[in-house]
Amino acid sequence: MQKLIVVVGSLNLDLVAGVNRLPALGETIIGLDFNTYCGGKGANQAVALARLGASVKLIGKLGSDAFATQLREGVEQAGVDTSCVGSALGSSGTALITTSADGDNTIVVIPGANGSLLPDDIDRYRQQIEQATMVLGQLEIPRETTEYLGQLVRSAGIPFLLDPAPACPLSQELLRSVTWLTPNETEAQLLVEAHFPGLSARSAPESADRLLGLGIRNVILKLGARGVYMAGEDTESTYVDAFPVHAVDTTAAGDAFNGAFAFALADCGMAPRDAAEFACGVAALSVTRPGAQTSMPTISECETFLDEQRASR
Ligand code: RIB
Repeated sequence: MQKLIVVVGSLNLDLVAGVNRLPALGETIIGLDFNTYCGGKGANQAVALARLGASVKLIGKLGSDAFATQLREGVEQAGVDTSCVGSALGSSGTALITTSADGDNTIVVIPGANGSLLPDDIDRYRQQIEQATMVLGQLEIPRETTEYLGQLVRSAGIPFLLDPAPACPLSQELLRSVTWLTPNETEAQLLVEAHFPGLSARSAPESADRLLGLGIRNVILKLGARGVYMAGEDTESTYVDAFPVHAVDTTAAGDAFNGAFAFALADCGMAPRDAAEFACGVAALSVTRPGAQTSMPTISECETFLDEQRASR
């Protein structure tokens, strides 16, 4: 029987303005184009997993608007099981995104229905969660729900991959339930400052050490075009390089990484360092394409890309 991976998280419709450069504070600029894409960190990670061939169930909430139909169809077409995606009255989650010509972006998320995914929903889907080989979470649903999920996975002994995005301080109890925490540099800095007032970390190893000191089992620091740094109980402390590509849109690159890392580790049984290298490849491919879920590659695209990259190293 194929292993099940469960993602608990958000679904958003991404409203994306393409611009030459990101506007400064208070500045008005003329944009290049406008597109809508299916997004949301939870849904993106679920789609990344499904495109690679994982059996994946998404637990989330959609609104009662037209976006809900589009978002449900988007994840289903990728092969994600949406039987645990419920509905709430009102608007679905949305994200206002600006992407610049050099691939950078800014994102404002309006939670909508994601905000009504509550601990009761975790209880409702407890049986499905307890069947998972790995559970993935992010922070675009209420914090209390993620805290509750953390307690459940910890008591069930299920590995928990948490993307602490958008960044906010987290309870020690939640941090202790995390098997793999995957912050980017900003998120890591915020967590370090929140838990060690007055201290900042000057390097990736120092950030990781401080976070590990909070009881997190493993940390993977996402360093963008520089790759990742990983450390913890289940891995050697090591940098893993990114693959050099021409980035057109970095939106959801972190989601591509998390989905791919979970697939490689939990589904394929790869060693953590190999899983991170595979995930760097998937993230690199994703930034060569526009949009969030539209940018997630299939397993055969990844294999071809990684073979070419390794041959040229
Ligand atoms: O990680 C990228 C995602 O962040 C976007 O798809 C947007 O919806 C926000 O959730």
